[in-house]
Amino acid sequence: MNIFAQATYIFFMARKHQTLGEFIIENQSEFKYSSGELSRLINSIRLAAKVVNHEVNKAGLVDILGAAGDTNIQGEDQQKLDVMANTTFINTLKNREIVCGIASEENDDYITVEGHNDDHQNKYVVLIDPLDGSSNIDVNVSVGTIFSIYRRITEAGTPVTLEDFLQPGRNQVAAGYIVYGTSTMLVYTTGHGVNGFTLNPAIGTFYLSHPNMQFPEEGQIYSVNEGNYVHFPQGVKDYIKYCQEEEGNRPYTSRYIGSLVSDIHRNMIKGGIYMYPKSSLNAKGKLRLLYECNPMAFIAEQAGGKASDGFTPILDLKPTELHERVPFFCGSSLMVNKAEEFLANSYK
Ligand code: AHG
Ligand code: MN
Ligand code: MN
Repeated sequence: MNIFAQATYIFFMARKHQTLGEFIIENQSEFKYSSGELSRLINSIRLAAKVVNHEVNKAGLVDILGAAGDTNIQGEDQQKLDVMANTTFINTLKNREIVCGIASEENDDYITVEGHNDDHQNKYVVLIDPLDGSSNIDVNVSVGTIFSIYRRITEAGTPVTLEDFLQPGRNQVAAGYIVYGTSTMLVYTTGHGVNGFTLNPAIGTFYLSHPNMQFPEEGQIYSVNEGNYVHFPQGVKDYIKYCQEEEGNRPYTSRYIGSLVSDIHRNMIKGGIYMYPKSSLNAKGKLRLLYECNPMAFIAEQAGGKASDGFTPILDLKPTELHERVPFFCGSSLMVNKAEEFLANSYK
């Protein structure tokens, strides 16, 4: 090996063994308000992810150790995992002087965090889907957590308002997800590309395993709940038929886990499109703009992919409600373009 090859080898070996903690510190200066607060915020998410991972991994033992709703041996009530994940993330985020407000799928209203001196000086709001795909828990299939982070737009020193949460996705300063799968991974972006870290559960450390993740421009997977087919708009039906036709690199293959995080994670690695369209059953689709679609769209765009409601980029939508739903098309850019083409044609 020549010296150059050796140096390259050492560099890549070093990067391969880089931990999430090291990565956060090393990349802190990339962030425009690099006061260290965002780094501490990502660190608190890393901690909560490890706690939730530990609980999710024990889910298969509930019949032995006691089901959710039962009373455990210490006389404490066993919590459902989505409630447990919610409490874990909220408590971890609240406990640091960084976050002024939290909105969660599990809470009707947002939570105001006053800060230790009750002075409302903290600058960030976090929106979370603490356990995504939770119906998969009982059948031992991957679930996830999704998070989205903004800087508040109201003045520090005043209580957080709804306005701070209803910012367009374009304003996100960071977003990410954790997939509790065959391995547990944390994938996030601060607007400088997307990086994925895999947890070594034996020592509780996340290692950089997927540097600079990229959505292939085109793929061969389409992911949609086809059970709803007859209720989909004509453009979506036409696009699904296009995916199934035999021509060029088609027919595509159909893969649908029913866990947004896992479906998008797979498609980002292999190339594909994820769709949750509106239907005659759900006028605005099912997925939530603020803590499902926006963070996934930010990640998709940062990885060179695309996300839209079928017509408009998700990140350009102006939210009006905390829990609003939106149709979602996300994945390899050429595939999303094609789906949009079918939708536009069906409305002509
Ligand atoms: P959650 O578990 O947070 O409520 O989210 C479930 C979502 C999403 O993860 C998944 O892609 C979608 O619901 C599946 O919905 P269908 O069962 O209607 O396909
Ligand atoms: Mn969800
Ligand atoms: Mn959820």
